Amino acid sequence: MFAVYADSINPESPLDGLIIGERPEPEVPDGWTTVTVKAASINHHDVWSLRGVGLRAEALPMILGCDAAGIDADGNEVLVHAVISAPDWHGDETLDPKRSLLSERFQGTFADKVAVPRRNVIAKPAGLSFAEAACLPTAWLTAYRMLFTQSGLKQGDSVLVQGAGGGVATALITLARAAGIRVYATSRDEIKRARALEIGAHATFDAGERLPERVDAVMETVGAATWSHSIKSLRPGGTIVICGVTSGDAPKAAELTRIFFLQLRVHGSTMGTRDELHKLAQFLDVTGVRPLIDREIPMEQADKGLAAVIEGDVFGKIVLTR
Ligand SMILES: NC(=O)c1ccc[n+]([C@@H]2O[C@H](COP(=O)([O-])OP(=O)(O)OC[C@H]3O[C@@H](n4cnc5c(N)ncnc54)[C@H](OP(=O)(O)O)[C@@H]3O)[C@@H](O)[C@H]2O)c1
Repeated sequence: MFAVYADSINPESPLDGLIIGERPEPEVPDGWTTVTVKAASINHHDVWSLRGVGLRAEALPMILGCDAAGIDADGNEVLVHAVISAPDWHGDETLDPKRSLLSERFQGTFADKVAVPRRNVIAKPAGLSFAEAACLPTAWLTAYRMLFTQSGLKQGDSVLVQGAGGGVATALITLARAAGIRVYATSRDEIKRARALEIGAHATFDAGERLPERVDAVMETVGAATWSHSIKSLRPGGTIVICGVTSGDAPKAAELTRIFFLQLRVHGSTMGTRDELHKLAQFLDVTGVRPLIDREIPMEQADKGLAAVIEGDVFGKIVLTR
């Protein structure tokens, strides 16, 4: 079948290990099923995989992609929950020490078909296109959990979203605004700052710029480059929720003194549960909010989409279609 896969790992030049070609149809273990992929969105995770972060050389060749929307074996329109937990795991799937994401241990979604445990298949919300639904399982689910499970934010509170243009960041801005939260966003890029205002930010700032007030929570996906600014932007007792470190995990200053003196909370967050994916779908249904798609391109051009993510030339999600 058609597939986009990592054939080798290259930390410096990630696209060198990418092949757009053919792989065998997926094997389907007991309790698993296949989904015919109609749309799959690119995440920074796919770039990390090609760089060898989270993907071991022994697992190659590995079909990339965490997210998919498509048709299940019974002809239903579905999307897949990308967190694969152990068969005997009960409770929050993101806390299973043996969990993995599609494309880490099990083949991913950039292909004609993907095999997943039956319990990882959920109904596609009727009001969403396949392309929109394909944005939910990673970036939008991660943003939903950061905001509504981890941050403690309530209506009328304030939040800072760092690095406005990213897939997770655009989801954070849109969801927070729809939930009645005051949204500040930063971007290094003037055009992205203008677009952040269009999708719901109340005010935007250059990277590192002082905010007009200290916020109740910061949503951090950038890491080293923005960490100090994030900590300095919090009110006493505020919360920073971190799900990623695109710019590296070693900030110049860890800001430990500020963290204890101002009694800040640092909350790690990874993906979301199947239950949260259902709740996210309901939230979109009730509010009419839709994932922001930067561009849809045929899956055969996955290299162009991945190059755009590597260069930061993206505002929202890039979706690959079949
Ligand atoms: N833990 C999890 O479950 C989970 C889930 C999803 C994503 N993540 C992680 O979260 C991060 C974001 O993911 P994504 O898919 O949204 O990525 P993305 O779309 O590639 O995000 C890119 C954004 O990061 C910002 N950025 C990158 N380098 C920067 C730098 N040096 N200084 C300031 N800003 C910088 C840029 O903001 P501006 O250009 O606007 O300044 C850019 O818009 C990734 O590291 C990803 O691995 C983790």
